[in-house]
Amino acid sequence: MQETIDRQAEVVTVPESAKQGTHCTLADYQAMYQRSIDDSDGFWADQASRLDWFRAPTTIADWSFDPVDIKWFTDGQLNICHNALDRHVAAGKGDVTALIFEPDSPDTPVRKITYAELLAETIKMAGTLKKMGVQKGDRVTIYMPMIPEGAVAMLACARIGAVHSVVFGGFSPDAIAGRIEDCLSDWVICADEGLRGSKRVPLKSNVDEALKKVSARAVLVVRHTGGDVAMTEGRDHWYHELSEGVPDTCECEVMNAEDPLFILYTSGSTGKPKGVVHTIGGYSVWTETTFRYVFDYRPGEVYWCTADIGWVTGHSYIVYGPLQNGATALMFEGVPNYPDHDRFWAVVDKHKVNIFYTAPTAIRALMREGDAHVTKHDLSSLRLLGSVGEPINPEAWRWYHDTVGKGAMPIVDTWWQTETGGIMITTLPGAHDMKPGSAGKPFFGVCPQLVDNDGAVLNGATEGNLCITASWPGQSRTVYGDHERFIQTYFSNYKGKYFTGDGCRRDADDYYWITGRVDDVINVSGHRMGTAEVESALVLHEMVAEAAVVGFPHDIKGQGIYCYVTLNAGIEANDDLAKTLRQWVRTEIGPIATPDHLHFTPGLPKTRSGKIMRRILRKIAENDFGSLGDTSTLADPSLVDGLIEGRLNR
Ligand code: WT7
Repeated sequence: MQETIDRQAEVVTVPESAKQGTHCTLADYQAMYQRSIDDSDGFWADQASRLDWFRAPTTIADWSFDPVDIKWFTDGQLNICHNALDRHVAAGKGDVTALIFEPDSPDTPVRKITYAELLAETIKMAGTLKKMGVQKGDRVTIYMPMIPEGAVAMLACARIGAVHSVVFGGFSPDAIAGRIEDCLSDWVICADEGLRGSKRVPLKSNVDEALKKVSARAVLVVRHTGGDVAMTEGRDHWYHELSEGVPDTCECEVMNAEDPLFILYTSGSTGKPKGVVHTIGGYSVWTETTFRYVFDYRPGEVYWCTADIGWVTGHSYIVYGPLQNGATALMFEGVPNYPDHDRFWAVVDKHKVNIFYTAPTAIRALMREGDAHVTKHDLSSLRLLGSVGEPINPEAWRWYHDTVGKGAMPIVDTWWQTETGGIMITTLPGAHDMKPGSAGKPFFGVCPQLVDNDGAVLNGATEGNLCITASWPGQSRTVYGDHERFIQTYFSNYKGKYFTGDGCRRDADDYYWITGRVDDVINVSGHRMGTAEVESALVLHEMVAEAAVVGFPHDIKGQGIYCYVTLNAGIEANDDLAKTLRQWVRTEIGPIATPDHLHFTPGLPKTRSGKIMRRILRKIAENDFGSLGDTSTLADPSLVDGLIEGRLNR
């Protein structure tokens, strides 16, 4: 407990400069937060009024957590593409740069795309999708590299009322197939290839593999690298060919606030990934409002979020949040260490980035490479830093603050989830002091609550399971095709509350400290992974009898993947097989799921009723076998000694 007290004592004050011209001072925050709770309807009607509505909503909050039925702005009509593009062009801001595209190689020319150009490109893509046969309500799978056409594809779907399902470019053909099948998507948009650190990612050929397992009516292929790809006659179309002659107008479809905008698959503690559904009205308002206040964006500034559009961070804070705010957003195709470990800082310098938002795993990896990579660049344009995806350890926070931020600017440590649509807990740059390692305070309208395992509410400075007791506009509405699973996953542990799956501590100043997942979900380099998914992949291999997967602390990735594997009778465990199985998981799920350790064992520790004792496996993987707890209930206690002896994470 000593450590807790020490860490809480460390308060870093926000520099005066951050308070100048901010959207929100501490007094503003307090008043606005209070109103967002006391007069939720009035508060959110006001926020929503910054957007254009084809029909303004008269109903604002319209939700229940028991039974689970979540709606916001129910009778409103709008289109998020209109608010992201047309609205700004109509207001005379067509010449403002919407996207700055920094390619994988620093030698490839930069592309700057204005709002007017992005609108024209989106209209062209929307027209092409219509020509292909895509209709309002259809699900469109997008499997793209980090190029402007990725954002254009999303916006084009939104424009015509199609529902996008973006699949991260690092996922395998099997993962694509599973996602196409789950949401019954007839359409795929991809590029020929992606580029990451000069390596080519075979996107189109992965789609071809996936479409051997499931079918699609058409594939629209954007030419990017010009690499050689196979085109299936009648099914595959080059975007640059099919888009020829499409009309240069395409009205935004008038959408109901509760029509779906997108599906995004995310891992949970059980089963296959869930298709989290977000709807148009609430998500529009949530991303517009959170971007505005958390990043405190001011006209003319350059904002850079290093996420990929394949994750929710890219959806909300590369595409929809910044564009609805008329911001200039940088889109980076490459990786932090190519051509060298200074790439991020070179890009900040090159484009005079003012607001920079990245993940702790990247910060830790770059910190390890030494300060010279940072200090050799002029980073004086920066005024605000952000962190997202996993808890940031105070050491990395310090380095980010002192070396990158020169001790002169706020850091927003933003806690949220795919299911929350946007940022939920954070400090606001002009309002709050910071505590390294704490996300901070609830955003407007967010009602966090800590409960114990029996659901009893814990008050004051305490630690428990993090729930949210009232809906917020950006909340996910359902799991695609399986509302029961939505209820089971998020609303059944603690009735009438949304359960986040995270553990959390609240200190005496009401700052929130996320301690990590309390379920069987692990966070690898800021990517969420269900241990059950990796287990399923392993047992699919013909030589594997049983597998148990746990996380362990990893210096760079936050958590690494530790797999315990028992083999079928007669199969010999050796390094080659470990290599094969590691490759197997990569192929089944994708490179992000590559196991760090593969530990062969003759058996897994189980209770007499046959339940795997994960607690013990976790402790051994953490190299913390001094505190294994009670092992007497194990069917075969002697197994544990062998596991400790054979542990791989020494
Ligand atoms: C899980 C959600 C948020 C978008 C990217 C990840 C962890 C996220 C933080 C943070 C501590 C964090 C939580 C959460 N997480 N941000 N600032 N501090 N933990 O979205 O893949 O849905 O993962 O990421 O454990 O539940 P996601």
